[in-house]
Amino acid sequence: MTLPNDTYEALNELHHNPDAVPMSMPPSFYKDEAMLEQETEAVFLNGWLCVGRADEVPEEGDFYTLELLGEPLIVTRNKEDQVVVLSNVCRHRGSQLLTGRGNNKRITCPYHRWSYDFDGKLLAAPLVDKTEGFDRKRCALPNFRTHVWFGWVFVNLSGKAGEFEESIRGANQYVKNYHAEEMRSVEPTTEHWPLNWKCLAENFMEGYHLTPVHLKTLHPMCPTRLCEKIPGGDGYTGYKAHYNENYDGRTEIHPDMTEEEARISMMVWVYPGFVVALSPNSAVYMSISPTGPTDLQVRWDVIARQETFESGEAKNRFDFAVSFNAEDRERLMDVQKGLSSRYADRGFLAPPDLEGTVWDFYHYMSKRLLGDAGTDRSNHERNTA
Ligand code: FES
Ligand SMILES: [Fe+2]
Repeated sequence: MTLPNDTYEALNELHHNPDAVPMSMPPSFYKDEAMLEQETEAVFLNGWLCVGRADEVPEEGDFYTLELLGEPLIVTRNKEDQVVVLSNVCRHRGSQLLTGRGNNKRITCPYHRWSYDFDGKLLAAPLVDKTEGFDRKRCALPNFRTHVWFGWVFVNLSGKAGEFEESIRGANQYVKNYHAEEMRSVEPTTEHWPLNWKCLAENFMEGYHLTPVHLKTLHPMCPTRLCEKIPGGDGYTGYKAHYNENYDGRTEIHPDMTEEEARISMMVWVYPGFVVALSPNSAVYMSISPTGPTDLQVRWDVIARQETFESGEAKNRFDFAVSFNAEDRERLMDVQKGLSSRYADRGFLAPPDLEGTVWDFYHYMSKRLLGDAGTDRSNHERNTA
């Protein structure tokens, strides 16, 4: 299946005309089955995806489970104190091994009690060791490539992604002083929204809607007019949501933070589906992935500095995120409906400080879906034929 024609044309134009007037992608980009098939392979399986936080599995044998792109996964911690992401599918006959979260001495299948260690190695297969030809080395659970970035655990499912730090390097300067690696998870939450994953990721990462959609919640803190884009890189983009002069700001902040950092929410998008708003004493993050052309999964949480748990601030931040997420959800459901109209079309984007992150994302998608050089039209037609 190839890309929808109008999406293909729009993505290809980004290569051939870098000075094109910034416009939104055609509706097919946000709803087409073919689009989903292409991006699942190119940006999700071959990309780095956030599965949560290292602080969710602080001790050896701690674990939690999740699904990502339909893959059942276990996030756990091994004897060497490393976070490990394993397939949650038994190598005997396919039962899921673990559910929920907890702590185990070993991973034991509930079906016939095969058991594995925290690196996925098979430890025991009752009675099967008497089977002629049984080879325990062929029975390890897939153990995926992981990278921990300021406490967030990223996984690459295909094993083919480039090095995580390679594509993200330029973003670290904006993130490091928040010391997110010292923060703790408040309440990891998984939701399913009937919405294309890109609508939610773009929305989280553009400041244009802050004032109109969040007039009573976010606008008093970080209004649209004060947004300032940062330069994007291969694997990321972002902007600074400066705080209003009248906003009191936050207490309980890390001493490394600059004066500017103490007065902004640093918004960072690690492509494809990880978005975070780093504020001086806490952060809201989302890991967004598709479950269908117009259905998504979002695993999100607030993480916060230790002191804020005692003062109640951490819980307040979480409740605040619930309220502005609800505002976004209502608006985005309406957008998805609009995108199915036969009269829906591309629209002009606002200037870079307000929607430049969306424009950066389109360039990333174009590169991932069409390759570094783009393609010419005759090629696409040959492929389609
Ligand atoms: S399916 Fe797991 S032990 Fe049989
Ligand atoms: Fe929003």
